[in-house]
Amino acid sequence: MNQEKILVTSALPYANGPIHFGHIAGAYLPADIFTRYKRMTGADIVYVSGTDEHGFAITIGAQAEGHSPQEHVDKYNKVISNIFKQFNISFDNFSRTSMPHHHKLAQQFFTQIRNNGYISKKTTDQLFCEKCNMFLADRYVYGTCPDCDAENARGDECGACGSWIDPLKLKQPHCKVCNATPTVKQTTHWFLELGKFSKDLTAWLDTKTDWKPNVKNFISKMIENGLEGRAITRDMDWGVKVPLSEAEAKRLYVWFDAPIGYVSATMEWAEKIGQPDKWKDYWYDKNTQLVHFIGKDNLPFHCVVWPAMIMGQDEDFILPSDVPANEFYNLEGKPFSKSSGWYVDIEDFFKTYNTDSIRYCIAAGAPETKDADFTWKDFQGRNNSELADILGNFINRFLKFSANYFENKVPEYCNPSNADTKTLESIKELSQTISQHYSHFHVRKAAFTIMELARVGNRYFDEKAPWKSRKTNIQDCACTINTCIQIGKALAIISYPIIPTTAQKIWDMLGLPDKIENNNWTEALQTPVATGHQLGNAEVLFAKIEDATIAKEEEKLHSMVAKDKADNAKEKTEKTNLITFDQFLSVKMQVGEVTQAEAVKKSKKLLKLQVNLGQKSIQIVSGIKESYQPQDIIGKKVIVVSNLKPAKLMGIESQGMLLAANDNNKLSLITVDNPEISTGSEVS
Ligand code: MF3
Ligand code: ZN
Repeated sequence: MNQEKILVTSALPYANGPIHFGHIAGAYLPADIFTRYKRMTGADIVYVSGTDEHGFAITIGAQAEGHSPQEHVDKYNKVISNIFKQFNISFDNFSRTSMPHHHKLAQQFFTQIRNNGYISKKTTDQLFCEKCNMFLADRYVYGTCPDCDAENARGDECGACGSWIDPLKLKQPHCKVCNATPTVKQTTHWFLELGKFSKDLTAWLDTKTDWKPNVKNFISKMIENGLEGRAITRDMDWGVKVPLSEAEAKRLYVWFDAPIGYVSATMEWAEKIGQPDKWKDYWYDKNTQLVHFIGKDNLPFHCVVWPAMIMGQDEDFILPSDVPANEFYNLEGKPFSKSSGWYVDIEDFFKTYNTDSIRYCIAAGAPETKDADFTWKDFQGRNNSELADILGNFINRFLKFSANYFENKVPEYCNPSNADTKTLESIKELSQTISQHYSHFHVRKAAFTIMELARVGNRYFDEKAPWKSRKTNIQDCACTINTCIQIGKALAIISYPIIPTTAQKIWDMLGLPDKIENNNWTEALQTPVATGHQLGNAEVLFAKIEDATIAKEEEKLHSMVAKDKADNAKEKTEKTNLITFDQFLSVKMQVGEVTQAEAVKKSKKLLKLQVNLGQKSIQIVSGIKESYQPQDIIGKKVIVVSNLKPAKLMGIESQGMLLAANDNNKLSLITVDNPEISTGSEVS
């Protein structure tokens, strides 16, 4: 068979903040898994990405943090590179779009596409924020989506319906920086005439018979609906200079230069390995499979704009072969958002948990066909009930047994029973199944198949009961342990793409030489561990994560949001300062008597209270435990906000709120001056 040649890319993350699990699940982990698998099968494969360092978002991020755009991208390129290291993402090169050779290549694209007649100059209307004194492009306006009426749609694409928006068509547009309503002003820009590529794009798309149907339909619709010219220049001074003297105050639109980053990252890789022309072996070879891993929000750019750009310039660059686009990966039901406190601090995360646990958890719940979630409980379950109890346990069982009863050597496989041969057959079948899954980017199913094989191992061990046969039929016992060792080896190999560190540990525990990734996938799976081979030392693969640890994480998450809400509210009231009398009246406050109080389990801060309001009693979950013991508060008359929408705190419904003064987290409850006052009295 000819050697496969593959170029894998992951979307270039903006160097504008740390990345989160959502990014990892969408574009990086699936790509890394695919790459690790293909490398082991002997493919000639290169995996590149890098930071996307231009665009308004970066300049505004830099401004907000009080440094220059260059300092800003330098900082976040490091932050992001480190996160990828912690996740063990095995790029061959992680580049940057601020590199000079990238700028040069992007300008070359522009010049050639323009010379070929696909770029035109037009003076058009643009949204302009008078307050910020800038044109508002792409993500810097938000408003109501003209297609689906979703609110808070971004100026470039709608998060709800995925359509690609012309910012001028947004309903009720607002400047994202200052919230002002923008005006419309004229400016001159260069437009990529996408319509001229419709025919070629359609023909190209028609060859993609094995693409995910939803991806293909989405793109076909887009082309069918008619492709309009899109501005590929911006009024700003950060980014790739437009190579035209009349456009000195303009820069290339970030989405024009970013995908070119895939080529320039490959160029840098070639330079680094001392073969500066090597990138051409991939980009100019029609036999190279070019695979772009992205999140679904990047589809139009990768499947329409980028292929059109390749078609429009002069070099014979290859077009994308496959674009595995993933859906969104959220945190406990809502999108990750650092700015609203809804996130997991990655630095903290890796202080407590290990890389393979999170890689496995994300892979097993990957957002392949629909949006999916990271939840702390799921993470605990994946780690404890799957990695520790099934995989770790199986490896440990047979290794301990070999050490105790077979001098830690592989015992002989002879006179196999039906169960033994059937088990060896399962190894073969499941290895073939998982290869299919890896080849087709089905990481969820791949993760499942690993556990399936470990389950087969555990069941087999239980059924054969070597602890019994050791005394009655030592030959059968030896055969069982030999078979378990073969399962163990297969598990190391097939789990390597998802949990590489663990796979190497299993490999070492089996006493197998060399690095696991230097073996050939098929060959290694076909070669049994030989009889008499000296095994290594067993160690525990996965520690269990305690309930209390997870409860603490959940509480931290909820308290970050609460703090953030409080901060925002404070900021808002400080900004607006005054409220109307009606606003004040809309808060219903009543005198209530606390009749019951108990601590909420696993929570440092929360008490669950029953409060009598005269006519009725309500349940309130209140964060006062650090200042009040349950017994101190029973019988107290307190002031309660009684018309709050019910909310859940750690799974318990809270129907109101107690008023308390907060002095640096020392809380003092507001009570009434005259304790005779009847419960339920309104406060005004
Ligand atoms: N930075 C973009 C985003 O995060 C992705 C760029 S991908 C590339 O949405 F194709 F432009 F490289
Ligand atoms: Zn503004």
